[in-house]
Amino acid sequence: MKKIKKCLFPAAGYGTRFLPATKAIPKEMLPVLTKPLLQYGVEEAMSAGISTMAIVTGRGKRAIEDHFDRSYELENQINGTPKESLMSGIRDIIKRCTFSYTRQHEMKGLGHAILTGETLIGDEAFGVILADDLCDNNKEDSVLTQMIQVYEKYKCSIIAVQEIDINDTNKYGVIAGKIEETDIIRVEDMVEKPEPKDAPSNLAIIGRYILTPDIFDIIRKTQAGKGGEIQITDALLTQAKQGRVIAYKFNGKRFDCGSVDGFVQATNYFYKKN
Ligand code: UTP
Repeated sequence: MKKIKKCLFPAAGYGTRFLPATKAIPKEMLPVLTKPLLQYGVEEAMSAGISTMAIVTGRGKRAIEDHFDRSYELENQINGTPKESLMSGIRDIIKRCTFSYTRQHEMKGLGHAILTGETLIGDEAFGVILADDLCDNNKEDSVLTQMIQVYEKYKCSIIAVQEIDINDTNKYGVIAGKIEETDIIRVEDMVEKPEPKDAPSNLAIIGRYILTPDIFDIIRKTQAGKGGEIQITDALLTQAKQGRVIAYKFNGKRFDCGSVDGFVQATNYFYKKN
């Protein structure tokens, strides 16, 4: 079995919940302390042994490309000063990783964004990180590392899930299935943003996936669903019906940095931690 070598970052969304901040700045570039959300995601992928980063961007997102590139003028300015150390993390990322980009021209949903990334991924299983779901597991294995371990055992698509308050099911994709072992469920059903009374469980899908490459053909055949968007949940349901999706209750913390509340919680958490 081939190792997971690439990670896809869908980062084309408008981030309307953060307007006006996201009018000219990509949501993924909003900083938690001094690092943009996307850098946390890239570091998580690196910790899982991945060095090829594939980013789906859109109009107004050029700051992302500039962030993961050298900045000679700035570097000249701070070289040899105490501030140089502030750049060591991003310098290391630029040295060790390859970044490639493609643009999603119309924001037709997460499923469509992932399909747009096909050109960067090709015919191999890959990780997906939604950078606005910020995960931390102290010094333990990162969430993506844990998921790759599950993938190596089950050899099918893996989705990260978390128990949520049943009243919040209408914000998430929600799953139901059969327990395989501790924290591992073979998915039988998935519903996008169900009302609490219709939710099959309180296990919500969060922004980490390992996907097998047949997902691209499935997305191509998937009709727009909830909100007129092409939902990854709908495409995954096709795989789930064939018994080929495992949900994994991960170890670690996750912050919904796509919402103001979650963003503030993440900021406080990392401030205390650092
Ligand atoms: P969200 O559902 O958080 O949407 O997308 P959004 O547009 O980013 O934010 P709001 O709801 O308007 O505030 C989840 C992830 O999927 C990506 C986003 O960039 C984010 O990482 N996405 C979503 C795309 O890349 N393209 C899309 O068409 C939709």
